[in-house]
Amino acid sequence: MKHFISLCASFLIAVPALAGPDEDLAAFRDFYIKSFPLVELADHKDGAYALDEAKREQWLEMEDFPPYEIAVDDGAELYSEAFPNGKSYADCLGEQAPAVKHLYPRFNDNEGRVETLEWVLNTCRLANGLPALDYLGEQMAALTAYIAMASRGKKVNVVVPDDERALAAYNAGKQFYYSRRGQLNFACSSCHMQITGRMLRAERLSAAIGHTTHWPVYRGKWERVGALHERFRECNEQVRAVPFEPQGEEYRNLEYFLTYMNNGMELNGPATRK
Ligand code: HEC
Repeated sequence: MKHFISLCASFLIAVPALAGPDEDLAAFRDFYIKSFPLVELADHKDGAYALDEAKREQWLEMEDFPPYEIAVDDGAELYSEAFPNGKSYADCLGEQAPAVKHLYPRFNDNEGRVETLEWVLNTCRLANGLPALDYLGEQMAALTAYIAMASRGKKVNVVVPDDERALAAYNAGKQFYYSRRGQLNFACSSCHMQITGRMLRAERLSAAIGHTTHWPVYRGKWERVGALHERFRECNEQVRAVPFEPQGEEYRNLEYFLTYMNNGMELNGPATRK
């Protein structure tokens, strides 16, 4: 598998600070095409399993009896229950509901902030007189697993509208991605760009071009389905940085940038990871 990994990877990551989202996206794609000349860009939706044949085989076996299936079924039930006032999630999610995952995160120009799918589900509950769900809890995992399943095959289509506030949120996410932090002084890009494809302890470092396509994820380590922001927290903790709140502004903006960098990639969630 070694030949999948180009040695010149670390020379190519400079992303011009003043580039706009479109230029960033072109540079991001180009980076991974050059880093993995033998891997189709689209295949990075399978994360580390696009880069490691042996791990891929174990993974495909797991997917024969997908451990996230129960969450998807529970989510379907939760999704179809009407709220006490007769409304439902579908009323909040628009015409394409429930297949809407590819549209998030999005910029809400009334509120002037980035909204993830989880955020919109909770806003919907609050607007209809129900309490918000725990962002890292079972019900949120189930609902998002159901919506991810319904959205499979759609292509990520995140928009940064022509609005200074949206661009500022995108740039904050980008800045987060390339900023070193923690006692180990690593940025997201240090692992997922500079040494992408290499081993870090027992793990093959995946390409960020597929990092947002498949959430929520059933992880063996968690023994349950969990959210992208939980993974963000874990990656921050790995470098001994203080993690941020799930669905706080920092991670919503980070998700906005990272998902924009995954534009055009096929959604294949929920998924299984080690
Ligand atoms: C010290 C190295 C390191 C740093 C720094 C790091 N990660 Fe990770 N990350 C890992 C490892 C190891 C894994 C598990 C193997 C893999 O899928 O790459 C992982 C997995 C992930 C995944 C899941 C991939 C999948 O296919 O499901 C995401 C998303 C992710 N990281 C995002 C980030 C973000 C965003 C940052 C910055 C906040 C970050 N990582 C910083 C090491 C790192």
